[in-house]
Amino acid sequence: MSKEWNLETIAVQGGYDPKPIEPRVLPLFQSTTFKYDSAEHVAKLFDLDAADHMYSRISNPTVAAFEAKVTALEAGVAALATSSGQAATSLAILNICQAGQHVVAASTLYGGTYSLFSNTLPKLGIEVTFVDPECSEEELLNAFRDETRLLFAETIGNPGLNVLDFVKFSTVAKTMEVPLIIDNTFPTPALCRPFEFGADIVVHSTTKYIDGHATSVGGIIVDSGNFNWDNGKYPELTEPDKSYHGLKYLEKFGNLAYIVKARVQWMRDLGACQSPFNAFLKNIGLETLPMRMDRHSTNALTLAQYLEKHDCVSWVNYPGLESHPSYAKTQTYLPRGASGVMTFGIKGGSEAGRKFMEGTKLIALVVHVGDARSCVLHPASTTHRQLSDAEQIASGVTDDMIRISVGIEHIDDIIEDVDQALRNSQS
Ligand SMILES: Cc1ncc(COP(=O)(O)O)c(C=O)c1O
Repeated sequence: MSKEWNLETIAVQGGYDPKPIEPRVLPLFQSTTFKYDSAEHVAKLFDLDAADHMYSRISNPTVAAFEAKVTALEAGVAALATSSGQAATSLAILNICQAGQHVVAASTLYGGTYSLFSNTLPKLGIEVTFVDPECSEEELLNAFRDETRLLFAETIGNPGLNVLDFVKFSTVAKTMEVPLIIDNTFPTPALCRPFEFGADIVVHSTTKYIDGHATSVGGIIVDSGNFNWDNGKYPELTEPDKSYHGLKYLEKFGNLAYIVKARVQWMRDLGACQSPFNAFLKNIGLETLPMRMDRHSTNALTLAQYLEKHDCVSWVNYPGLESHPSYAKTQTYLPRGASGVMTFGIKGGSEAGRKFMEGTKLIALVVHVGDARSCVLHPASTTHRQLSDAEQIASGVTDDMIRISVGIEHIDDIIEDVDQALRNSQS
């Protein structure tokens, strides 16, 4: 489908274009394998001289349609769906960074990503330097080394909810000739398309808003096709790959090289693929994504404004609020809405927080965000629990912080539930 369609149209019809008599709805190809007539055809597949499906760890028609739709929504050139958001981030990095090399990352990250960067990547020989995303351009530049191979950040930090300064981050990435990789999970392409602001690669936890109904874990890596890999820093893309008879990815695949390599090398070897059934569900989720993101955003803004005046609440953090430090950046990068996640400080600290979470009736205590149903969590004792106190503060987590993922229910019902639970939490 043409990239010229509007976002809402791509969300419904992108990625799958049936011919006459074919099913109108994207079919679920629940098959590991595909049939061929000749050994020569199979040999061509293994030599990457034919692009047909070979084995569902590498590619599958249902997953491919989902990848094509997300690619079109992000206005990129290619995508690779993965088993989870964590797998997407891991593969996006391992594809261009190896032992002895280095990553610069914003410190305001989802707890699992922070842990991947601070514990697991170093075990593989990849060091990560965290920077305060509000640092100056000079401080950001100073975090780089000769071995730095990428810059990483979230569009909206989870759970700090700071909006990224794309100009600063993309300028520095360009100066240092490394790709800017953005986790765009919270806004989704319905609210922000990072490639328009200089990002080179986007990753998502599709588990969240892209699925939207909390049915399946998944992730995706999308490439803009804009980064120049031929700058001497990425021989894995420009020099022969021994595991593919000396294939040179950039030479053979041009601006698709990054995703082809991630698929045929890393997905082949690590196997963190997305199941066809999950891609089938996520494709249905995508059909309503723009509508849902509008509703999540307006509901969250209304609740945030209500909480700002509530006497049981000491602070409210939502990037759509005028009082928020990121408000100007929200206007620039998220003009259609600031997504559905917000945090607030409850008077009475963690004990009141516990009572609040146990006291909501409509809003469920769930380790999740991005569901059509509203949900609530205490990050310090759950998602960010493995982090030290200092790491929690660096990633924006405090003891009195409650995180709400505001769903698409009627806002009056959400407010009523929050109010009764807040009042009960103070007794
Ligand atoms: C911003 C962000 N990125 C990545 C992830 C990891 O995704 P997954 O749980 O699908 O592995 C999460 C999970 O909450 C997240 O919030």
